[in-house]
Amino acid sequence: MANVGYSKKVMEHFTNPRNVGVIENPDGYGKVGNPVCGDLMEIYIKIKDDIITDIKFKTFGCGSAIATSSMITELAKGKHVDEAFKITRNDVANELDGLPPQKMHCSNLAADALQEAIKDYKNKKK
Ligand code: FES
Repeated sequence: MANVGYSKKVMEHFTNPRNVGVIENPDGYGKVGNPVCGDLMEIYIKIKDDIITDIKFKTFGCGSAIATSSMITELAKGKHVDEAFKITRNDVANELDGLPPQKMHCSNLAADALQEAIKDYKNKKK
């Protein structure tokens, strides 16, 4: 099957996404919409001693959005919130061995939603 420039890793995370779902009573919650395409992403995090112990996502988005969210949950799990906050859309795309240029905007959703969830956690702590 032609995969129009998607790496094997993107296809693998798209067909077998990690950490899909919802966390009840999350310590942080982030929701962002992608202004380019109108797709939506939600991220839920559980935190203990500032370490992300669990993370789940739900997206109404394209295959690249699913693959990038899946990847970012793997990158963020076990990290200190301050480290996870620094994960960029480029980090995610690189970990996936790249995204087609016209799909780079899709990786914004995952990175932005994670940052929103971490901000939410920090606001609640205040
Ligand atoms: Fe909307 Fe990819 S087309 S997130």
